[in-house]
Amino acid sequence: MADTEREFAKAASFLKQARRVAVLTGAGVSAESGVPTFRAADGLWEGHRIEDVATPQGFARNPDLVWRFYNERRANVAKVAPNPGHEALVKLEQRSGEFTLITQNVDGLHLVAGSKNVLEIHGSLRQTRCLGCAEVVDRGLAELGPKPLCPSCGARLRPHIVWFGEGLPEDVWQASFRAAAACDVFLVVGTSAVVHPAASLIPIARGEAGFDRVPAIVIECNLTRTEASSYADVTLLGPSGVTLPRLLELVEQPI
Ligand code: OAD
Repeated sequence: MADTEREFAKAASFLKQARRVAVLTGAGVSAESGVPTFRAADGLWEGHRIEDVATPQGFARNPDLVWRFYNERRANVAKVAPNPGHEALVKLEQRSGEFTLITQNVDGLHLVAGSKNVLEIHGSLRQTRCLGCAEVVDRGLAELGPKPLCPSCGARLRPHIVWFGEGLPEDVWQASFRAAAACDVFLVVGTSAVVHPAASLIPIARGEAGFDRVPAIVIECNLTRTEASSYADVTLLGPSGVTLPRLLELVEQPI
């Protein structure tokens, strides 16, 4: 058996034995759908100052610019569809006992694909939050214009996205923490694992950095090695639209 096939077989056998599976995904899982990642040479942050478009201070200074940026992202996401990587995760959920999909992505493609137990820890491009009454509303991906206002109270709306310098929604973070702390296998897909606290879920799953637990098995799927790789028991290198379906195929094979 070639080395790569041995790694796939090892990962599949861990997943077959797992009762509780948690998954952390990042922009890489949507790359093959045509959604730009953040930190590539042509990534989303290229050409944008993060402090202008992804901080509360940037929004306070120039909300029109921020809404232009997010309306453009919303329009781009409206044109794309889930890829075989998203679909493999739907099937993995269907055959797993407990399954939690924690995603840093705001494109909603896991939900569109059909994943059920999804925690969108950085929010969603489809949702707005009112700066007056704090109501969060799902608006799909229709154009919202440069100055959307709350239909309930008339105050200004902002994207329901976690910006730099902001905390994650407490309930979503607690649920993610519990899933990472209790899983048997933690699958880390398409993330550079440099943004915290999302990336801290990996040492939490491993029982490291002060989190006392029997370590989960960590399986990483990425094009390259990342900050997560030193925690990984198995690293499957390649596009997740190829590696995840291959992994699922092996998991579904009878023993
Ligand atoms: P990054 O752009 O930092 O990393 C994307 C990762 O996906 C890299 O490690 C790539 O090697 C990998 N990758 C690219 N294409 C892939 C493919 N086809 N298959 C598998 N892996 C692939 O994106 P994130 O790690 O998601 O936060 O970034 C985390 C957070 O940083 C984002 O949620 C966003 C950003 O600031 C907010 O906006 C709040």
